[in-house]
Amino acid sequence: MEFRIERRGEAEVWTIDGEDRRNAISMAMLRELGDHLARAAADRALRVVVLTGAGDKAFCAGADLKERARMSPDDVQTFHDGLRRALRAIEEAPQPFVAALNGAALGGGLELALACDLRIASDAAQLGLPEVSLGIIPGGGGTQRLARLIGVARAKDLVLTARRCGAAEALAMGLVSRLSPPQRLLADALDLAARLSRNAPVSLRQAKRAIDGGFHLPLEEALDLEHRLYQDCMRTKDRVEALRAFAEKRAPVFTGE
Ligand code: COA
Repeated sequence: MEFRIERRGEAEVWTIDGEDRRNAISMAMLRELGDHLARAAADRALRVVVLTGAGDKAFCAGADLKERARMSPDDVQTFHDGLRRALRAIEEAPQPFVAALNGAALGGGLELALACDLRIASDAAQLGLPEVSLGIIPGGGGTQRLARLIGVARAKDLVLTARRCGAAEALAMGLVSRLSPPQRLLADALDLAARLSRNAPVSLRQAKRAIDGGFHLPLEEALDLEHRLYQDCMRTKDRVEALRAFAEKRAPVFTGE
């Protein structure tokens, strides 16, 4: 098994379970990730996924470079297709994904985190896209998602130098949105997941779609997209429940309908 999966209330924690290889991405790990993503896409009761790595050294050290050394160019192509598909599936998942960066997030490991909706890092985490120092470029969406997230200038500063940045710099750049002491990271990530889970499921799903789907559109089209997704929420029982709960001065009980 490449992942340890634990249910915590309405969230699941997916821990990459390959501490010996610093949770590097192997072909087997990609296949298993694809299976879990397909399962999550169909699980309406699953409200949030927290993705993290085993141990305190690495969230994910990128592609498994030992496996890579044994791979043919065709195998590498298959790996890349699988990685790109998995990262897209995270973005398109109905629930938010929180990356809890418990250590180094390098290469494909950072690209994995970039595909998640929120990133929370241990103070000790190190982040970077070292690919140009390895004779390649980031191939799992890193050049595109990083530039969209933190801007072209800061993305080039990281990608073209191949340098690693620490957690404080990552926070200042907006590459992560929260920091935690290493021993509190998972608890803080679960608190964040619980905070997300308290909200109406359809609203969470449509808000994620509105932000991601509208970001690259001309404003007029983006506003239309937002309007369509807003209308979907208008039809839900949860919207009525929220109004009733407000009037009754109690917390709403959302069902996702
Ligand atoms: N693929 C395969 N194995 C990896 C790996 C990777 N990407 N990264 C680390 N490992 C393995 C090491 O080879 C080592 O295995 P060994 O015990 O058989 O020698 C083991 O993990 C521990 O590595 P080590 O470097 O001693 O751990 P560390 O805790 O001191 O440092 C990292 C952790 C992640 C900072 C460091 O391993 C690293 O920089 N890895 C390379 C990351 C990288 O450049 N990825 C690029 C992907 S494009």
